[in-house]
Amino acid sequence: MSQDSNSTKQRTYAPSQEFASQANATADLYTQAEEQGEEFWANQARDLLSWSTPFNSVLDWSNPPFAKWFEDGKLNAAYNAVDRHVEAGNGDRVALHFEGEPGDSKSYTYSELKDEVSKAANAMESLGVSKGDRVAVYMPMIAEAVITMLACARIGAIHSVVFGGFSADALRSRIDDGEAKLVVTADGSYRRGKPTQLKPAVDEALSKGGKSVKHVLVVKRNGSDVPFENGRDVWWHEALEAASTEHTPSEQGAEDPLFILYTSGTTGKPKGILHTTGGYLTQAAYTHKNVFDLKPETDVYWCTADVGWVTGHTYIAYGPLLNGATQVIYEGTPDSPHRGRFWEIVQKYGVTILYTSPTAIRTMMKWGEEIPAEFDLSSLRLLGTVGEAINPEAWTWFRKYIGAEKCPIVDTWWQTETGAIMISPLPGVTETKPGSAQIPLPGIAVDVVDDAGTSLPNETDGFLVVRKPWPSMLRTIWGDDDRFVNTYWAQFGDKYFAGDGAKRDADGDVWILGRVDDVMNVSGHRLSTPEIESALVSHPSVAEAAVVGAADETTGQAVFAFVILSDHATTEARDETELSEEIRAHVGKEISPIAKPKKVLIVPELPKTRSGKIMRRLLKDVAEDRPVGDVSTLADQTVMQQIVDSLGTK
Ligand code: WTA
Repeated sequence: MSQDSNSTKQRTYAPSQEFASQANATADLYTQAEEQGEEFWANQARDLLSWSTPFNSVLDWSNPPFAKWFEDGKLNAAYNAVDRHVEAGNGDRVALHFEGEPGDSKSYTYSELKDEVSKAANAMESLGVSKGDRVAVYMPMIAEAVITMLACARIGAIHSVVFGGFSADALRSRIDDGEAKLVVTADGSYRRGKPTQLKPAVDEALSKGGKSVKHVLVVKRNGSDVPFENGRDVWWHEALEAASTEHTPSEQGAEDPLFILYTSGTTGKPKGILHTTGGYLTQAAYTHKNVFDLKPETDVYWCTADVGWVTGHTYIAYGPLLNGATQVIYEGTPDSPHRGRFWEIVQKYGVTILYTSPTAIRTMMKWGEEIPAEFDLSSLRLLGTVGEAINPEAWTWFRKYIGAEKCPIVDTWWQTETGAIMISPLPGVTETKPGSAQIPLPGIAVDVVDDAGTSLPNETDGFLVVRKPWPSMLRTIWGDDDRFVNTYWAQFGDKYFAGDGAKRDADGDVWILGRVDDVMNVSGHRLSTPEIESALVSHPSVAEAAVVGAADETTGQAVFAFVILSDHATTEARDETELSEEIRAHVGKEISPIAKPKKVLIVPELPKTRSGKIMRRLLKDVAEDRPVGDVSTLADQTVMQQIVDSLGTK
């Protein structure tokens, strides 16, 4: 079923009758949300979660932008994600199918997950962790990562997951900012067929900081030989073996913190985004149920994200489990040991719902449709994407070669800060348009405004804002209320500023136009321009650096770094290719391999205005191979020509 939309002349895809007739969401949800206002969210909170103390207060917005949702209610996140399914007689349902990169696998039923989470909670308590303490989680994509997050939630400890690909230094700064008491990690993992190590990065982080850390709990994943500090370090298997499977979940206030997750901002210092319990869980469960059309008895859901990102929090650790789903988690990369690995996993587990990134789809497109064609993908019934805009070509490819032209696709826009999906089609309801995230979910008030905060008509580029508080909104930046207010609320007063440009098309559908601040989006990962620049200048050969995100066919954007060499490096006159490579590797080590510039270009000067501000726009023209734009505001108008000439000769 498809038709041309008159106004945009773009092909749209209407939901099939078959899908619509069984869908969880109906068009009525928009009407209900409109009519009920805040009560709509109260109804979701009551229907989708179990409260040990019911709430009376719905939203307290008396001190904006500090929202409180369901404040007088009490509940426990782990009880909601695990125990209540066992109590309801679904203990034998599989909660997690873990698939290791080397091909080992292990499934956990909800009963088994309850035992593991309880043992981990007891073990952590015996290591001195209690309610309100911070626990840093630095782990590969293994079941123990999810178990650790839920064990923290069970105690009321606040988890702070740090992506396993981050450097020791990035880990140290996050441990220190949150003053974590415990670090949970693994000896290592597997990457492209080889064992890798994680624990040494924890040791390095703790040798340079981490004075708050009392213990390190270490999962044995690949058995590699890692240093172990007796007294401080504890093996996970030994601690859990000694622990009881009985554990009473702590009763949490709805506004008690659930987790901190660091994300890149417009300065070098990452922001610790704080999420609390009741509102976050409500929107996690609501969006997971309606956007993914989850049927817990029959679906097998797979989100390919890593728990180190917010997607892995809301749509692996919380949303699916709150709704009693059976889900797959996968440790490795899509091309290990072969390029059909994703599709082999879909076939093996009979995955019905697949949530992944546009970058992954574009990569698979490059590899060719013959690869997925070798596998049985007929179990799939819904596809989703997140993290960056999906170009219509990738969307159509995904629908055709993975979704057999029948699966609805949900392009979901949201952020670490929003906690859960905000803009997305509703499967079975929305007629989709490739490339557009469509319209805000029922209950969410999104707008596109100009720089004065005035709502813009359709077909005009502006800034994406959220007009009303929503349950899973961030509550603050950990330890920095001022930065929270200044970053998100200073621009437009009473509206939340997302940092994204957007427009509505003639039909009123939202198109996300990318970041309007110093944040780049590479393969759906947020990277901060100043953070990479400071990593670059920390290399002894670099005097000055400017970084831009240039359009890239596969990764959406790619990092291009322009550097001026220090005097001594200029005198040394080393081979520039070799030096560029060394500088790239340095950024990889300082931040993470994902932050490594695609290119480091050595240039004689950087384009600056008279007040000394670097004009990155002009560098972007160079990186994207376009004629350089207007140079009239540069202090030295010959600089761009010098740059172009210097690159031309290389
Ligand atoms: C971008 C990831 C276009 C956007 C959940 C946002 C998207 C940032 C989409 C948040 C989408 C996310 N279409 N752009 N469907 N989803 N983005 O915090 O720029 O890692 O601000 O959260 O990713 O990235 P974050």
